[in-house]
Amino acid sequence: MAFTLTINGKSHVIDADEGTPLLYVLRDELGLNGAKYGCGVGQCGACTVLRDGAPLRSCFVPAGSLREQSITTLEGMRALDGALHPLQSAFLEEQAGQCAYCIPGMIMAAAGLLRQKPNPSEAEIRTALDANLCRCGSHNRIVRAVKRAAEAMAR
Ligand code: FES
Ligand code: FES
Repeated sequence: MAFTLTINGKSHVIDADEGTPLLYVLRDELGLNGAKYGCGVGQCGACTVLRDGAPLRSCFVPAGSLREQSITTLEGMRALDGALHPLQSAFLEEQAGQCAYCIPGMIMAAAGLLRQKPNPSEAEIRTALDANLCRCGSHNRIVRAVKRAAEAMAR
């Protein structure tokens, strides 16, 4: 049965089983490919989106359970004029990604952190991103990028 989700500020009628994981709805039904499939069991963070501003692993959450909530994906991070979000800019400036497969999830997890704590310490950034895996070992550059974004957003 169809149901409605609010994604990146827009309402979408989803014609899928309510138990379908949000990640599949985003990628297969809506063509929003920012969130990535890594493990499929909530362990790697590649699929991270925001639910009401807080990080959510979309690979195992039934889409039908998210009706009254606001979902933000990587595609929703840009400003209305198309400008990159400071986190996106900072990740590019720090060349934080190698293969970049983990980066969308890292950016969304960092966005959740900066919403709660606009000026996090390096230790707080590391803790917030600890469960987001990067098989390329780019963690140090990722942490620098989050710090850089926080500084840019404070200006
Ligand atoms: S794909 Fe969702 S946590 Fe790994
Ligand atoms: S940059 Fe390749 S997995 Fe993180």
